Amino acid sequence: MIIIIMISVFIIGAGGISGNHIEGYSALSERVCITAIADADKTRAESLVQKHGLSAKVYGDYREALSEQVFQIASICTPPGTHCEIALDCLNAGIHILLEKPMAPSLSECDAIISAAEKKKRLVSVVAQNRYTTHVWNVKRLLDEGHCGKLLYSQAYSVWWRGSAYYDTDWRGSWERAGGGCTLNLAVHYIDLLLWIAGKPKALTAFMTNIYHSNAQVEDISMAYMRFESGSVGELTCSQIHHGEERKLVFQTERAALEIPFSVRCSKAKPGGFPEADPQTQTEIEAIYKRYPPLFQEGHIGQIMDFVQAVETEKDSSALLLTGHTGREAVEVVTGIYKSAVTEKTVRLPIAETDPFYSRERMLALMPRY
Ligand SMILES: NC(=O)c1ccc[n+]([C@@H]2O[C@H](COP(=O)([O-])OP(=O)(O)OC[C@H]3O[C@@H](n4cnc5c(N)ncnc54)[C@H](O)[C@@H]3O)[C@@H](O)[C@H]2O)c1
Repeated sequence: MIIIIMISVFIIGAGGISGNHIEGYSALSERVCITAIADADKTRAESLVQKHGLSAKVYGDYREALSEQVFQIASICTPPGTHCEIALDCLNAGIHILLEKPMAPSLSECDAIISAAEKKKRLVSVVAQNRYTTHVWNVKRLLDEGHCGKLLYSQAYSVWWRGSAYYDTDWRGSWERAGGGCTLNLAVHYIDLLLWIAGKPKALTAFMTNIYHSNAQVEDISMAYMRFESGSVGELTCSQIHHGEERKLVFQTERAALEIPFSVRCSKAKPGGFPEADPQTQTEIEAIYKRYPPLFQEGHIGQIMDFVQAVETEKDSSALLLTGHTGREAVEVVTGIYKSAVTEKTVRLPIAETDPFYSRERMLALMPRY
């Protein structure tokens, strides 16, 4: 007789993003069972259970579930200001955690989560589902395999449009509960991709303000210029005022400009150095790209499949593409942007534990209320 041991999953936070987690675990329904859902507003957890036809028990206080049931995985889908406390409670109960982005609003909280996970020998994976995208995956592969020459300049446009009602929730507009505006809560995806593809920045200069959303304390636009450890440079625009939301990443290399969503453009020099199109190089790079296979699963489902497999096979965090450390690296860049914008100075990374922007309390005292 074969006994199949199901992985028991606890979803904490039954708002907008929790459906993506349920969808991911449901794709593995023969190996995984969602046994509980908690939300501070219990009716939301009840609606979610009903909507997805789950047999999970519903809780208003996640701590009650931790004391009643045994879980292997907790998916934390609550607002950023709550992430650290909930993550620590789950890790201390011996549960592996899949933590929604951003990992936490401050580096001190990220470090507390990483150190609890190491102490308890549990896995932490911070959500950055855009890494699980065929375009992203294969543009990175083109660069890593050297088909485009050296990376020179990276541009990330995390540009969104949101009406004021977006900030009518009890958390999104508050430094205390959201930890930040469009830089921490939306552009963190693009920052993660820049880190993955271009590497770590060693210095950055940034500016931010709130130019349109008068019902929010946090920034609705920021711009940053970065110098990476590799020697390449980059720029990042984070916005919630861009009509049309034309988000993209562009990587200018020695041989081509690669864009995500995928496109290639190549220039070569005429006599005197002026440019003309280089269709031959463009065709060559496009042909390599087309030979790469698509990803098996994209988005949250891809990340959840890898995470569940690592839990099942008792792997350590080196088996994961996305960990507490990758989550922390993105928060460090955001913290650098906030520090540079507030101090009006270039900031060098890493940010030390003694830095006023390292701890949540000290940072909160320094942030402007727009
Ligand atoms: N990966 C992505 O693309 C993506 C997209 C949207 C949101 N998110 C992230 O997911 C998280 C949640 O965002 P959302 O849009 O689902 O928010 P939401 O406001 O729709 O839902 C959050 C839920 O958490 C509950 N909650 C708050 N404090 C709680 C606590 N202490 N215990 C239990 N429940 C609590 C609220 O009642 C609410 O139902 C945030 O960190 C956000 O940045 C990620």
